[in-house]
Amino acid sequence: MMRRILVTGGCGFIGSHFIRGLLNNYDDLFVINVDKITYAGNAENLADIAHFTNYRFIKGDICDKNLMHKVFEQGISDVIHFAAESHVDRSIEDSQLFIRTNVQGTQMLLEHSLKYGVKKYIQISTDEVYGTLPFNTRDVFTEDTPLSPRNPYAASKAGADMLAWSYFHTHGLPVVITRCSNNYGGYQYPEKLIPKTILNAINDKPVGVYGDGLNIRDWIHVRDHCSAITTVMEKGIAGEIYNIGAENEIANIEIVKWILKYLNKSEDLIRYIKDRPGHDERYAMNAKKIREQLGWSPQIEFGEGMQETIEWYKGNQKWWGRLF
Ligand SMILES: NC(=O)c1ccc[n+]([C@@H]2O[C@H](COP(=O)([O-])OP(=O)(O)OC[C@H]3O[C@@H](n4cnc5c(N)ncnc54)[C@H](O)[C@@H]3O)[C@@H](O)[C@H]2O)c1
Repeated sequence: MMRRILVTGGCGFIGSHFIRGLLNNYDDLFVINVDKITYAGNAENLADIAHFTNYRFIKGDICDKNLMHKVFEQGISDVIHFAAESHVDRSIEDSQLFIRTNVQGTQMLLEHSLKYGVKKYIQISTDEVYGTLPFNTRDVFTEDTPLSPRNPYAASKAGADMLAWSYFHTHGLPVVITRCSNNYGGYQYPEKLIPKTILNAINDKPVGVYGDGLNIRDWIHVRDHCSAITTVMEKGIAGEIYNIGAENEIANIEIVKWILKYLNKSEDLIRYIKDRPGHDERYAMNAKKIREQLGWSPQIEFGEGMQETIEWYKGNQKWWGRLF
């Protein structure tokens, strides 16, 4: 039987890249995308693949039990669960929706996956569940690093990971968890650091930087993240966790300066603003396990990926015009 892949949150940033990659590279599977189209979701993100006959989009909420029942009873072989509330600042203002979608929504998917005998369930998680690393050390997050989330978004994702983990150990559901570092690329909603900086700079608006800008993130191009997930879909072992990263630790202020330089804009646009509460200092991923055990490696060098990303935003004003 043809594999039937349920992708949740496929109209968001990473999910849309993932579906595009799947449909362009496989013709022996059927993709069902369930997305609620929150402020962050946009059906236009997948306009170019709407003609594929092995693709179906359903506008809906993963917390909707009746809908989930209808989706799963048609037969689902794999679940790739991206849908989430994903912005840390919004979770600090109000965490309710984060608990609903990220924790309760995950529980709904796990229950249905169990009931309908799903063959593989992939929980898309984040390095933020590990908390923070000190500056000026070579410490890195491994899959064995204890979870220590420090903001409500990260806590909701850690809760979801724990639930997924429990469904493997208690019920034998074939769960795999992936934890990736910060993604960049086209189609990212302009509330996140890289697209927000690009669009402010293009429009000669002030570019905000939290605190002293020295917080470090570990960056990976979104297509490299998606190729890692596809590798896990094919070869990942149930009950395992795989960190995903490209070893690109960069301070926020360096990213901002890189973008301004590329766009030939003055650093006078930079405004240092009051730091985010609980702002994690540094993230750094050790992705040795997926590299060595599954043979995956990232392909897109940071400078090349950033140029492509900036050019994408420059060329797609129609996409971001109503969002910015
Ligand atoms: N962006 C990153 O750097 C990053 C890094 C590591 C992991 N992740 C994880 O990857 C996943 C996708 O992140 P993203 O950056 O693409 O997020 P995003 O905010 O761009 O997209 C989230 C998508 O989920 C949908 N959604 C939200 N609530 C829903 C619900 N209740 N039912 C159905 N759909 C719903 C939204 O409409 C949107 O299309 C998330 O789980 C996130 O935690 C993101």
